Parts: sequence; structure tokens; C-alpha cells
Amino acid sequence: MAAAAGEERRKTACVTGGNGYIASLLIKMLLEKGYVVKTTVRHPEDKEANSHLEDLKKLGTLEVFRADLAEEGSYDAAVAGCDYAFLLAAPVNYTSKNPEKELIELGVQGTLNVLRSCVKAGTVKRVVLTSSTAAVSSRPLEGDGHVLDEESFSDVEYLSAKRTGLWAYPVSKVLMEKASSRFAAEHGMSLVTLCPSVTVGEALDRQVYTTVPAILSLLSGDEAELKVLKGIERASGSVPLVHVRDVCRAEICAAEAEAVAGRYICNGLDTTILETARFLAAKYPHYSVNTVTSGDVLAKPVALLPSRKLEKEGFEFKFRTLEHIYDDMVEYGKALGILPN
Ligand SMILES: NC(=O)c1ccc[n+]([C@@H]2O[C@H](COP(=O)([O-])OP(=O)(O)OC[C@H]3O[C@@H](n4cnc5c(N)ncnc54)[C@H](OP(=O)(O)O)[C@@H]3O)[C@@H](O)[C@H]2O)c1
Repeated sequence: MAAAAGEERRKTACVTGGNGYIASLLIKMLLEKGYVVKTTVRHPEDKEANSHLEDLKKLGTLEVFRADLAEEGSYDAAVAGCDYAFLLAAPVNYTSKNPEKELIELGVQGTLNVLRSCVKAGTVKRVVLTSSTAAVSSRPLEGDGHVLDEESFSDVEYLSAKRTGLWAYPVSKVLMEKASSRFAAEHGMSLVTLCPSVTVGEALDRQVYTTVPAILSLLSGDEAELKVLKGIERASGSVPLVHVRDVCRAEICAAEAEAVAGRYICNGLDTTILETARFLAAKYPHYSVNTVTSGDVLAKPVALLPSRKLEKEGFEFKFRTLEHIYDDMVEYGKALGILPN
């Protein structure tokens, strides 16, 4: 229905992967800003996994569509008529037995699949693609004092030859970014890529499989998750952290600010396991945080990931210290069952 005279048409945004950790909070913020939101999930019939989306419907107009990255044309209906598309659905199955197919091929082809739907829609003014600092910093770095910027890409050849740790995730993100940039250039599409660092903080999702358990491992004592955290520190040359609220605010800035273009690192703080352990031990003395180094952790970050380009666009981070970043994490960890109540 056409908007009545004097009545402004509300902006419409599609957020893919609506039951994800970052996407669910982004949907909430967009609804609070008055956007009409269309989102996608793989299993709309799963009432429990999607219950937070039902709750969000109370905040505004939210439509939920079924879509799968592996199915060509699957996103057409969700993207139709949208002004903005936020691409957050992505395979994040780090421990896949077939990472070439399930992480890399699906990550690249699935993203192109959504971009084709955006072209078909003909209404999308900007696409915001969520990559990761994993696509920036996973490369051999000799010595310390490295300051990486948006020109830096993780080394696909090096990672593919080594095939250790979470190698396929950065490879999938670099190849997905490069294929998307080529596609956008060929189709005259306005594409902005956001590279958040390790994202932490309370979100709506109550079933989190992301790096939240790894970040809480110093408090929970979960050795397997601490191993993941050590893998992140080794691969990145630091533990780069950003609060999920800042990520969602940056996503919206990347869509709305007209001059924004290209790739943006979104990182609130560069820390290390050791620094974090010392902070947590002092702040939460009733948890037995191990601050004794076993030699396999960094004494200080060897690589920094400043977000200068994003800040030059006028973006201000709200969470820049461990104190702020961990503020809601302990309560969130309890709600998720990662930490004891
Ligand atoms: N969390 C972080 O620390 C972090 C940091 C930097 C970048 N990122 C990136 O941010 C994006 C969102 O991550 P997140 O942390 O919010 O992860 P998440 O909670 O695991 O969300 C991933 C989403 O992708 C969907 N998905 C997976 N495979 C799919 C497929 N074949 N078809 C359609 N949807 C599929 C999942 O849907 P189901 O619920 O159906 O499985 C889920 O909604 C990802 O691109 C991730 O790489 C995350």
C-alpha cells in the first residue's frame, strides 16, 4: 500500500540468519529504530530456537522467512522490497569433517546466492557483509609490534597448506569477501564489509555456540574451550575483543552512513589471555582463575587491529576496556549455563 501523503515510508532491512547471536540483537536494534525487518532462519518450525523472534515481534514489524544458503534463490522473498541487507547467516561449523565443502564452498557460494537475491530485488541500496578479523590477521607474523589494517588479508595459501587449528574459517572468510567484492563490482552494488573481532557480551540468544564459551573459559575452567581461546590468540597475535552491542551499532552505521565504503575492522580492544586472566582474578576472586602462564600464551599482543577507518566515519565504540566488556558476560554466562549460578 502506498504511504499516505506526509507519512514517511519506513526503511526495510533484511537480516539473514535471524536466530544467530549477533543477528538477533541486530534485529532488536533495527526494530527499536523503527525499521521494518525481514529475517531468515533455516527451521521456522523450530519454536524453541526461534522463540526470541516471536518476542521481538512485540517491538515492531518483523517477518520470518525460511531460507538456506545451499538453496539457490532461497533468499529472494526475504530480500524483496528491502532497502538494506545485512548478511549474517554463514556456516560456522569449525569442526566440520569436510571443511572445504561445508565451510569454504558453502560460505562463498551461499553468500553469492544471497547477493544474487539482492540484485533480483532491485531495491537494495546497500549490502552489509559480516566477515571477521579472522580474515585479516591469520598470517605468519615475525616478531611483534604489527599494526594491521583493512589492507591486510589472512594468508589463504599458508593456512591451506598448514591445515591446523581453525584454518578453514579464515580461509572461508577471505574467499567469501573476495568473491563478494568481485560480484558487487560487476553488478554496481554498494557493498560494505565489516570485520568484527571476537564478539562477546550479552545477546538475546540463549543457545550460543560461538566464542562466548571460549571467552568465559578462564572463569568456567573448561579446558577444551581454553584451548580454543589459545588457538585464537596464536592465530591472531592477540585476543581481539568487541562487544556485541558495538558490532550491531557498527552494522547499522555501515548501512546508513552514505560515505562508508569497502572493508572495516570492528575491534574494541586488543588483549591477551594473561592480561584477561589477571583482570578476572582481581575482579571475580570467588572464581579460581589460573594466572600462572604455562609458556603457551603471549606476554603482550604481537599484532594490533585498530578500528581507525571505522572511527574516521564517526563511529564511537562504547565498550573499550575489559571492565566494560566483561560487565554483562558473567550474568550471561550464568544464564547460558556456562558458569554456575
Ligand atoms: N561471534 C563472533 O565472535 C564473530 C566474530 C566475527 C565475525 N562473526 C561472523 O558473524 C556472523 C554471525 O555470527 P554469530 O556469531 O552470530 O554466529 P551464530 O550465532 O552461529 O549464527 C550463524 C547463523 O548462520 C546460520 N547458518 C549457518 N549455516 C547456514 C546455512 N547453510 N543456511 C542458512 N543459514 C545458516 C545459522 O542458522 P541456524 O540457527 O539455522 O544454524 C545462524 O543463524 C558469521 O558470519 C560469523 O562468522 C562472528
